[in-house]
Amino acid sequence: MEATSGGGDGALRDEIRELGELLGTTLREQGGQELFDTVERVRGLAKAARAGDEGASETLQNLLSQLPPEQVIPVARAFSQFLNLANVAEQHYRVQHSQEWAYAPEGKLLFGSLAEALPRLCGELDPEQVYEAVCGLDINLVLTAHPTEVQRRTMLQKYNRVATLLERRDRYGAGAAEAEEIREALKREITAAWHTDEIRRRRPTPQDEARWGLAVVEQTLWNAIPRYLRNLDRALGEHTGRRLPLDCAPVTFGTWMGGDRDGNPYVTHRVTRDVALLARWMAAYLYERDIQSLITGLSLQACDDDLRAEVGGEAWEPYRVVLKRVRARLRQTQRWAEAKLQGGHPPEGEILHDIEELRQPLLRCYYSLQRVGAGAVAEGELLDTIRRASCFGLTLMPMDIRQHAGHHTRALDAITRELGLGSYAAWDEETRQRWLLAELASRRPLIPHDFAPEREIEELLETLRTFNELGPEALGAYIVSHAAEPSDILAVELLQQACGVRHPLRVVPLFETRDTLARAERTMATLFANPWYRERIGGCQEIMIGYSDSTKDAGHLTSAWTLFQAQERLVALARRERIDLTLFHGRGGSIGRGGGPTHSAILAQPPGSVDGTLRVTEQGEVIQAKFGLPGIALRNLELYTTAVLEATVKPPAPPRQRWREIMDRLDERAMAAYRNTVKERPEFIEYFRAATPIEEISRLTIGSRPAKRAPEQMTVDSLRAIPWVFAWTQTRLMLPAWLGVGEALEAALDEGLADELREMFEQWPFFEALLDMVEMVLAKGEPGVTRLYERTLVPEELQGIGEELRERFCRTRDAVLTVTGHEAPLADFPVVRRAVEIRNPYVDPLNMLQVELLRRSRLRDDEALRRALQVVINGIAAGLRNTG
Ligand code: PGA
Repeated sequence: MEATSGGGDGALRDEIRELGELLGTTLREQGGQELFDTVERVRGLAKAARAGDEGASETLQNLLSQLPPEQVIPVARAFSQFLNLANVAEQHYRVQHSQEWAYAPEGKLLFGSLAEALPRLCGELDPEQVYEAVCGLDINLVLTAHPTEVQRRTMLQKYNRVATLLERRDRYGAGAAEAEEIREALKREITAAWHTDEIRRRRPTPQDEARWGLAVVEQTLWNAIPRYLRNLDRALGEHTGRRLPLDCAPVTFGTWMGGDRDGNPYVTHRVTRDVALLARWMAAYLYERDIQSLITGLSLQACDDDLRAEVGGEAWEPYRVVLKRVRARLRQTQRWAEAKLQGGHPPEGEILHDIEELRQPLLRCYYSLQRVGAGAVAEGELLDTIRRASCFGLTLMPMDIRQHAGHHTRALDAITRELGLGSYAAWDEETRQRWLLAELASRRPLIPHDFAPEREIEELLETLRTFNELGPEALGAYIVSHAAEPSDILAVELLQQACGVRHPLRVVPLFETRDTLARAERTMATLFANPWYRERIGGCQEIMIGYSDSTKDAGHLTSAWTLFQAQERLVALARRERIDLTLFHGRGGSIGRGGGPTHSAILAQPPGSVDGTLRVTEQGEVIQAKFGLPGIALRNLELYTTAVLEATVKPPAPPRQRWREIMDRLDERAMAAYRNTVKERPEFIEYFRAATPIEEISRLTIGSRPAKRAPEQMTVDSLRAIPWVFAWTQTRLMLPAWLGVGEALEAALDEGLADELREMFEQWPFFEALLDMVEMVLAKGEPGVTRLYERTLVPEELQGIGEELRERFCRTRDAVLTVTGHEAPLADFPVVRRAVEIRNPYVDPLNMLQVELLRRSRLRDDEALRRALQVVINGIAAGLRNTG
């Protein structure tokens, strides 16, 4: 199989072509000439159809609809694997070029790299201010198990090996003898991938998900972090004349894997405990590996007085003595965690209780080496391990707990009934708050000894009771999803108290509908006005804001504007109240779930909202995309650093009053257009179910949690945001990302606001990012493809909805282009456009196959069809580089 020319960069095309050829040879060898010929014919027809040949499109559809069952899966796999290889080549290309641009002295510097941003900011501002801001950065990336990664880990590993081989070839050059060896190794990986089942046989357990998260730390972050900090240290030295302090950790990690139980009944208190222990074990194992290597290297004898005093006058190799003591504790920690995981109660003995027990001895070695003139040795692996300890701590990534607010209400309701106080759930907000605060102030035990609630509530209480065993370092925040009122936060405070939690977790509300976001300032102001609460938070408050659910609730434009304003108001409130505010952004990878390029997304935030501090989720497929390969991970760490730095030292100007008024109008219209369609038309959900593979997506075994919170119903509200966006992405209508935007812009253009809209686009980063993202989605969208689904799968009486949506898609595209002034979507993003063009002829046949498979499976459900559908879903997701 070879790449369709998409114009643009030759090196990338050549690489895609080469991988395609290797896949083609593999197909012929492993699947036979007939399979190869069919695939080539499909590809040729898809190319011709893309070029406008309607006859080819017709022939292709006929060919695919008549494909014998035994050929469906191999053909789908061929296209899917090609698309995955194209992704690998593209990632490799990006790493290659980002390094070249970022570091070549005479080359163009890539915007957002350290090499570009630091000298620029130091030139515009006082370098001392830039230095202080870097040292104060607190960026926490929270890895979550959101089910959007369709690839099996084993396939990802194969593709990562392909990427590594491509990188190796860069070092040797294509002509060298090693190049042939590399080509053979590539062929081996591609052949192995061909013979590997890309579909998971069973759903992963939450423990599997957590293991995967830990593997990301082991495989890339463990090395990327010290490398990134070296680069930062060097750049600071060069541009500010000062070095990065040894305990500085501008980027750290958190996790929801094993802790997020919202809508996931499989995450129990036992799972949480096991995952926390696993993390503790993994941390000890990784540190031990480092220490082992340091013991091998640090055979030096000269040391300073401090170290000598510690090891005694007799010690021959003092560094090794100190390090061996640390190693013993790390080994002890691993044995302790293993025994606990097996259900034992081992004594803690000499385990590592505090990361300082590791860091301090390392620091003593470091300073000693410096003092005896062996600074060069101190600055090597030893420095890396010290930096790792500052970043990863005792548990690598402290775990947040998340649960839905309704759960806590039900638990308190059971308790108040048990106590004969009536129904907590039936009380109004004021009564709830009064009771909660009174109980919080009281010391008497709340939960009766013989309280025997239903299983779900017992599980919640058990979870809270587990916190003491896990210890404060293992845990992060307690996130309350769908928080709406102050009582939703106080409820968790009271439950923690009632369960005797010794170090209560900080309770973080997640506001994620338009309504609760719009009221967030009032909700928090009520809490801040309460003396008990003020005392409890000790001057710090974290608030999470949800991008995907608010987009599903009210549409993309309304969600974006509501989030912007909520942040502004919360920032102002926190300033008035002298509270340190951390905003935690819950955003997915795809645009319909708040995704977008890191750098511009951060710079588009309201002024003051990124004040050196940022917490953000990295979900599912995004984790592999951003941190799966060392070069890419490094680049993303830099991007976060420079964007948060820039937003801190050079916050954007607040938008003009006039722009706000225009946004308010756009918001109102966009929301009405979105909700009228999605929520207020009863037949819409029927159309959605018929025209998209939503049911099949819900059955995918890609995550441990179910697709819906309430299994019995299917409404837009009950469906989680991921399958909602995923389904529209597969059929390429991408509706959640644009519906409503067109109507709003059209009305504003009709009112003569074109010039002002353009001004907003050019001068206001928020509005620019918003329209750029919509334009990107419109470029990836293919309304014509949706028609194929409709013709075959949708009852005739509902087909009008599709016609209407397609027309609205096109009108939205026109309206957006009128404002951005671009001739075609993605005019400003040639790399993305090329990527879309290269992939289209490979994704189109998969869409056609999907239609045919859906048709067959709706007549008769059978295992082979289901499997084929899953392969196709994977392939389309790879081609669009997004699931949900
Ligand atoms: P949630 O996430 O459904 O876990 O709240 C929403 C999303 O990220 O799409």
